[in-house]
Amino acid sequence: MTESSRKILVSSALPYANGPIHIGHMLEYIQTDIWVRFQQHRGHQCIYVCADDTHGTPIMLKAQELGITPEQLIAESKKDHKADFDSFLINFDQFHSTHSDESREVTELIYNRLNEAGHISRRTISQLFDPEKEMFLPDRFVRGTCPHCDAEDQYGDNCDSCGATYSPTDLINPSSAVSGAVPVLKDSEHFFFKLQNFEEMLQKWIRAGHIQEQIANKLDEWLEDGLREWDISRDAPYFGFEIPGQPGKYLYVWLDAPIGYMGSFKALCNRRDNLNFDEYWAPDATTELYHFIGKDIVYFHSLFWPATLAGSGFRTPTAVWAHGFLTVNGTKMSKSKGTFIKARTYLDHLNPEYLRYYFAAKLNNRIDDFDLNLEDFQQRVNSDLVGKYINIASRTAGFIVKRFDGQLTADCSELGLLAEFQQQADNIAQFYEDREFGRAIKAIMALADKANQYIADKEPWKLIKQQGGEAETQAVCSVSLNMFRLLSIYLKPVLPNLIENVEAFLNVEPLSWNDHQHLLIDHKINKFMPLMQRIEKDDIDAMVEASKETIKVTVPEITPASNATSYIEPIKETIEFHDFDKLDFRVVKIVKAEHVEGADKLLRLELDIGNETRQVFAGIKSAYKPESLEGRLTVMVANLAPRKMRFGMSEGMVLAAGPGDSDIYILSPDDGATLGMSVK
Ligand code: MSP
Ligand code: ZN
Repeated sequence: MTESSRKILVSSALPYANGPIHIGHMLEYIQTDIWVRFQQHRGHQCIYVCADDTHGTPIMLKAQELGITPEQLIAESKKDHKADFDSFLINFDQFHSTHSDESREVTELIYNRLNEAGHISRRTISQLFDPEKEMFLPDRFVRGTCPHCDAEDQYGDNCDSCGATYSPTDLINPSSAVSGAVPVLKDSEHFFFKLQNFEEMLQKWIRAGHIQEQIANKLDEWLEDGLREWDISRDAPYFGFEIPGQPGKYLYVWLDAPIGYMGSFKALCNRRDNLNFDEYWAPDATTELYHFIGKDIVYFHSLFWPATLAGSGFRTPTAVWAHGFLTVNGTKMSKSKGTFIKARTYLDHLNPEYLRYYFAAKLNNRIDDFDLNLEDFQQRVNSDLVGKYINIASRTAGFIVKRFDGQLTADCSELGLLAEFQQQADNIAQFYEDREFGRAIKAIMALADKANQYIADKEPWKLIKQQGGEAETQAVCSVSLNMFRLLSIYLKPVLPNLIENVEAFLNVEPLSWNDHQHLLIDHKINKFMPLMQRIEKDDIDAMVEASKETIKVTVPEITPASNATSYIEPIKETIEFHDFDKLDFRVVKIVKAEHVEGADKLLRLELDIGNETRQVFAGIKSAYKPESLEGRLTVMVANLAPRKMRFGMSEGMVLAAGPGDSDIYILSPDDGATLGMSVK
């Protein structure tokens, strides 16, 4: 290996401090950790930092809901997150917090520099404000009826039902998700980062090999639309860093979040003498800087972040590498299916290295989504790791230990064959370097097949019984264990614990990549110990069951007697009788119910109201099969003004209870009620 030693700083995205780590997150941390360990294995100085992302409205509100301070909440999360990462063998040099002195220091420096350089502007904007909670509402905290399709209970920024995007002020009947109050518009002065000042710089940066091509194409589209100012301030109450010199104004969490990478590194510099902050962050730094992220946060990392760094006199990243999203058994992780698996639940049932291996075996450097199929997972790990790799040692080590006192031969009988294994090192290294872990594993397993074939051909278990076959048995087993050792070197970034046990068994110093250049000759090994158990289906099943239970146990204190929702909506404002009397409720029969093409939530109902038929679009698709509704009686508001919807006219509304989705219950009159009866 002639490549000289590199200095590399690596980050994974910072997990939010208001929720547990799940196996979707783990895809990212495992991917990064394997890459970092690979670099270290090769003898480079590679530093891996991360932190909890602690600021913002959701964390502030969650703490309030739990009756604790945000500081307490983020301290708890940090403890849990760290424990999860440790258990998954994620080898951070520093796991910090964005709510730290180091982060604050760098954030203020960056803000001040951007401001001095003229990259910050101010203007007054009008936003929805919760008059009860006395706070401005982020889009996600406003709910209401979609202005495009009339679907109820939609978020303030886009509609789940028709996919439209809009501004929260466009919602019909908006309400605050925090207090239920009707929000009002209120003015306030905001601070903006002038992203458009960096248009030229970003255009070049995007096409200079710093990001994946798939992403560069996407960013080009955004750039074509033109870059706009980015709102980086929030009003109190907010949990975050106050803007220097602007009491009551806070920096938006996404400004200080990536600065958390620098804060974490700064904290590391403070405890390690040989590390120099500027060597990694000065504009002319020759060290390398990589950010591993999920594809959902590309905009922040490939536009805002390089612009923020460039605008404040720091270096920009060598590369930002995005990965796709984890699905389980082919679909989005689901709490009801038990596939929303928390890191801790996984660890309660399975060995972390199974998942590290499976992720590695399937990862590439693209941003396609990644499926964890639990059956394939079990099969793949058992067959590759236990059936192929470990099998090499378990079929041969016993002879060496029992018959030859642990002694490997003094010279090697198969130098040519072993050279084939050694020659693969550069190839496999290149795959790791390129984040083509799946191809690295494929190459390693092809060698494992070769090793098993060699053992099967030589049949040491027969050789040992042959007269004078002892020397050959020892030679064959020594060759096999050398193959095993070479594969162990190549697998070490993926399976650090397992390989540590292999090192103990082989009785060698910690293996590093370049150790593939020599062989184990005339060496005494230790007794073989089982290195890894097979995955049992029962353990996977138990993990899935427990994942279903996690939600059952987290909500019991508010579980009501029925299976309807536990949340009791506040009673609306009192109305007078004449208000009530305006409503004309009728008993009606659903004569027809059918799916509406292109609508996610709606069913089209034909309602017989006695003397005419009405068409109504009802948002009950996730609760009822249309066939099951036909023929049943229900109650509708018959004098509601018809509304034009995307799919046709809706002539009234049927009455149903429940918060929505599959939790919706259509009202039925008691026996005896007949069509058209007025309901009072
Ligand atoms: N706090 C922000 C990141 C700030 S970085 C300066 C955030 N946090 S997160 O907790 O939602 O996600 C952390 C990382 O995990 C992100 O890179 C995200 O893409 C990744 N993943 C979260 N769920 C995931 C899957 N289901 N699959 C793969 N990666 C996933 O975003
Ligand atoms: Zn809609």
